[in-house]
Order: sequence, then structure tokens, then C-alpha cells
Amino acid sequence: PRKIIIDTDPGQDDAFAILFALGSPQDLEVVGITTVGGNVPLSLTTKNALKVVELAERPDVPVFAGCPAPMVKKLMTAEYVHGETGLDGAELPEPATPVQDEHAVNWMVRTIMAASEGEITVCTLGPMTNLAMAMTMEPRIIPRIREVVLMGGGFFEGGNATPAAEFNIFVDPHAAHKVFHSGVPVTMAPIDCTYTAQMTPEWLGTLRATGSRAALEAANMAEFYCQYGDHKFPTKARPIHDACVTGYLLSPEIYEQRQCYVTVDISSSETIGMTVVDWWHVTGKEKNVNVLRRIEPAPFFDLMLERISALP
Ligand code: BDR
Ligand code: CA
Repeated sequence: PRKIIIDTDPGQDDAFAILFALGSPQDLEVVGITTVGGNVPLSLTTKNALKVVELAERPDVPVFAGCPAPMVKKLMTAEYVHGETGLDGAELPEPATPVQDEHAVNWMVRTIMAASEGEITVCTLGPMTNLAMAMTMEPRIIPRIREVVLMGGGFFEGGNATPAAEFNIFVDPHAAHKVFHSGVPVTMAPIDCTYTAQMTPEWLGTLRATGSRAALEAANMAEFYCQYGDHKFPTKARPIHDACVTGYLLSPEIYEQRQCYVTVDISSSETIGMTVVDWWHVTGKEKNVNVLRRIEPAPFFDLMLERISALP
């Protein structure tokens, strides 16, 4: 199985990404989970990550708390999407498993340095603060990382946090800039991609009907999360953003992808956090990011159903 670190700010869609990965042990080995301040403050994202590993009955997967705030900006959270807890909709018990003592950034550096070259893939599902800090602290990790696969950004679709910027990149644009220009192979799932695989109430009904506890609680939290669109969009279907990262690791052939030059605006007042994607290669600059553009929704949702319902 491919070894991955999941860096996350759960978040219902983060929880789906984690459950999807933990339900796929034949393909993915989750070495550890690192948390960051994002959708809700760090104390809650950490607690939520522990709740999710316990829901999957995988308390052996260690959870490390990382950075509470972005590198330069102040933290902006998203309770308006995810609820006060970050995981509203699910009734999960207080975690019995403690968070690890080591700081997430220290653990990330130590783990990547101890692994062989190209062994570890880092998946970021929130602001990229922890990974950027790890790269700053120990640049020798950069050539050792196999690939960074992230949910973030938007170009033809614009942004969801501001007209120009997607939430994860907007919260910590400096961190994203650091990672995109680090030289590490980067694959990005922007909202252009995540909006092409929308979760429907029918699919949630099927997930619920599989009867496993993980599937049931996942469906409960998704129902809360899907309400967010009610006042903005005409349909009940919603993108399940972060799960697109796990889907890519498991089934890259169902994604339309293009290698592009990508940078992040870190200096303008109106467009800070915007991912500038050179889709048509008009700059001629060296292509640094594999940009995911579209997903085939049917195989994506079939696979996610199979893997999440395989959990207890
Ligand atoms: C991203 O922002 C967060 O609210 C979600 O968890 C996802 O990572 C979508 O823009
Ligand atoms: Ca997230």
C-alpha cells in the first residue's frame, strides 16, 4: 500500500476523505494524521480527527496537533459551513485516544526523513501551514516526498471564500505559495474538480442503507454539511471536496488532469489567495502542478461507497 500522511482540519468533507482512506487498507497506509487550524480552531480539528479514527475503529493511527494559525495571516474559520464543532450532524463520543505529544511539524519532518526517498505522500485537506513549516524547518524533506496531493484552489470556478480565492488557500496563501514553488511534485484538486462530483441525497441514502456505523455517521454529518448550499444553490447536491484527494490516490484514471504552471497571489488586497493556473501555458513557465479538472462521478461515488461501508 502507498504510505500517506493526512494533514487536515475536519470538517465533514475531511472526515469523508479520512474514512475513504482508512476503508482502503489494501491500497493506502495512513501513517499518521496531522491537524491544523482551519474550518474550526485547532483544538476542535484535533478532537475531530481523533473522533474519526475511533469511528473507523483505527485508534492505532496516531494523531498529531500542528499549527493553530497560518504563517502570516490571522486564522479565518468556517463554522458557517461545518457548524460550531466542525463535525456537526454526527453524534460521536468524546475520543478516548489521546493526541500524540509530539508537534505535528516535528513528526512530519522526522517521519519523512526516516522513510526512504519517495516513500511518503503528503495529502493536505486544509490550509497548508504544517507542510510549509516542515519544509522551512527541514528543506531536506522536499526531495524525499513522493507527491503532495491537496484540495485547494480554483481557477475557472473562481473562489468560495472570496470571489478569487478558495478557502484552504485563502486561509494560508503564504504556505500554499511555499509548497507550490518548493519543487515537490504537486497534484491539486481545486473546486473546478470537486464540483464535478456532487454528493446527492440519493447516494447518501444508499450509504446509510449499507448499515455500518461509519457509513451511518458519515451520512449524518453529510446531511448537515449539504444544508449549507440550500440558500445559495438550487440543488441539494454538494461537492465533497476533500474526498476527491483520496479518490485521486485510489483511482487517478477517473480524473481529467493537466500539468500546468501554478502560483498563488500573496500580495494583492482583492485577490490574495487566488490560484493563478496557466491552463493554456501562455507564460511558458515551467509546469509545477498536476491540476485535476474533472472527475467521472459514477465510479468515484461507487468506490467511496464500497470503501466507507467496508468500515465497522
Ligand atoms: C475546503 O474548505 C473547507 O471548508 C473544506 O473542508 C475543504 O477542505 C473547500 O474549499
Ligand atoms: Ca478541509
